Amino acid sequence: MRTHFCGLIDESLVGQQVTLCGWADVARDLGGLCFIDLRDHEGIVQVVAEPSDAAGNAGVVAAAAAVGYEDCLRVTGTVRRRQSVNPKIRTGQVEVVATAIELLNKAEPLPFHAHENPGEDIRLKYRYLDLRTPEMQRKMRTRTKLVSALRAWLDARGFQDIETPILTKATPEGARDFLVPARMHEGEFYALPQSPQLFKQILMMAGFDRYYQIARCFRDEALRADRQLEFTQLDMEFAWVDEKIVQDTVESMIRDVFREVLDVELAAPNEQFPRMTWAEAMRRYGSDKPDLRIALELVDVAELVKGCGFAVFTAAANDADGRVAALRIPGGASLSRKQIDEYAAHAAKFGAKGLAYAKIDADGAVNSPVAKFFAEEAFAALLAHVGAGNGDIVFFGAGAYNKVCDFMGAVRLKAGRDFGLVQDGWKPLWVTDFPMFEWDEEEARYVALHHPFTAPAVDSIEDLRANAKTAVSRGYDMVLNGNEIGGGSIRIHNSAMQSAVFELLGIGAEEAQGKFGFLLDALKYGAPPHGGIAFGIDRIAALMAGTDSIRDVIAFPKTTTAQCLMTGAPSPVPDAQLAEVHVAVRPRTPAEG
Ligand code: AMO
Ligand code: AMP
Repeated sequence: MRTHFCGLIDESLVGQQVTLCGWADVARDLGGLCFIDLRDHEGIVQVVAEPSDAAGNAGVVAAAAAVGYEDCLRVTGTVRRRQSVNPKIRTGQVEVVATAIELLNKAEPLPFHAHENPGEDIRLKYRYLDLRTPEMQRKMRTRTKLVSALRAWLDARGFQDIETPILTKATPEGARDFLVPARMHEGEFYALPQSPQLFKQILMMAGFDRYYQIARCFRDEALRADRQLEFTQLDMEFAWVDEKIVQDTVESMIRDVFREVLDVELAAPNEQFPRMTWAEAMRRYGSDKPDLRIALELVDVAELVKGCGFAVFTAAANDADGRVAALRIPGGASLSRKQIDEYAAHAAKFGAKGLAYAKIDADGAVNSPVAKFFAEEAFAALLAHVGAGNGDIVFFGAGAYNKVCDFMGAVRLKAGRDFGLVQDGWKPLWVTDFPMFEWDEEEARYVALHHPFTAPAVDSIEDLRANAKTAVSRGYDMVLNGNEIGGGSIRIHNSAMQSAVFELLGIGAEEAQGKFGFLLDALKYGAPPHGGIAFGIDRIAALMAGTDSIRDVIAFPKTTTAQCLMTGAPSPVPDAQLAEVHVAVRPRTPAEG
């Protein structure tokens, strides 16, 4: 059908005849002389139809004049040098003088023009048109390169690609499961995997040593720019390893792949990614995935506010589980009252009950709703402690430790963006030493911060039981520019320890046997020490493609309301189909809202 790709026509082809297929990106009729920008997946080339073309074919001009936007064409012609070079496109030195233009398929008037942005809902409804645009082609191509570079790296090192089931039993990763009714087992359900976690551990027990899988995972959770209901992990597991081997191996993989796909060095040749404990990350950045491109840091000020007259501050400062933190923003005194309120509203989204501030004008005058609670020298000492000078603003957060970290971390990110303090480039790091458990107030029980199969960094079960609140796990996350791109751990490989962790999580022996009996059994028959990690492919692809949303690197993503606007999923199904799988739909009760 064609001899060349539009986007690859170059000066080496001058004088040659080519046949191209593509879409009419733009067609211009200059009164008898027609130009068509012909586009395929490689790019665009200019096609010219001239009245006095070499073949003397007047039909060509008529055909070109009739071309409409996004028509499918086959064009044969001769490549020649362009008179006016277009430096914006790869083929800008040349053009194709048409000798034949064949209309392969006429396009009806389009719902939107690719050169305008009609809004994401329209783009998702007509995703095939959106994906045709060079920008989306580029983003998807980046993802393809990422996945093929990862595969090549892993295949060359003996990692075995093994598929694990999609119809399976619930794996607890902390999100809600998607359920699939089992037609052959009335009232029973499969669950779609939240990750291949237990299967990959069992593969290690089954003798496979090094495993990987580009695995689709399903989690019924709230969608965001970096979260989809179904997403793709590069899932990996290693037998006979400690955390150093896993971290060193995958760090070199990520560095090699960034070099190959983007020609970027993530760290100096003799250096490793920095490592930071979870506690330090929370203290300095208010986040377990700190964006180190922003230099701003939180400063603890509990000691300096203990004696002040503001109950919100003193209560948090005198509580062992409380925190009073300050964030100095250089130049922040330029914020208006309205903008300060916007910061408070932003903090409130992350649980803040208020956001105190102190604005220090250029002349040194201090404007702060909390200054009145302090003796003058004490307030000056507080500002001096955080290094605040004329022209700065300081925000203060007080309350429960993790909550203050959350909202002050969010304020830090917003300030970094608003004040142009995000440096260019790449800032990777490892976050380690996560707490093993988190106390869930609502459920009044411990929950696993990572997942229940992560090994605790303790010597014995007794030790873990005695120090559950402060126990640290052998989990680790890889963070890049403020995104958690991967998470993993060394696993529990001993059945008694696994049972003890289930017990601490409030999973009784019977429940544990029912849900994870196969794992507890497998751990008894010679399970090697093992560990692994999973990377979020969508997130890495989005970072590589330079976009904020993983929806841009997924061909057919769901909206934030969990719908596919192109196919209309989810949708009702006929009663007969429901009956077949023994399911009846019950309307929501008023209590369910
Ligand atoms: P975790 O839950 O941390 O670990 O997931 C690993 C990585 O997957 C990505 N990710 C997501 N990407 C898009 N949408 C989502 N909803 C989503 N959820 C997670 C993140 C994350 O770092 N079984 C463990 C891995 C292990 O222990 O080996 C797991 O799934 O980039
Ligand atoms: P109020 O006396 O409640 O008006 O609060 C005085 C100032 O303290 C206001 O600027 C509030 O935004 C701020 N504030 C209230 N609660 C907190 C909190 N938990 N952390 C930080 N600032 C707070």
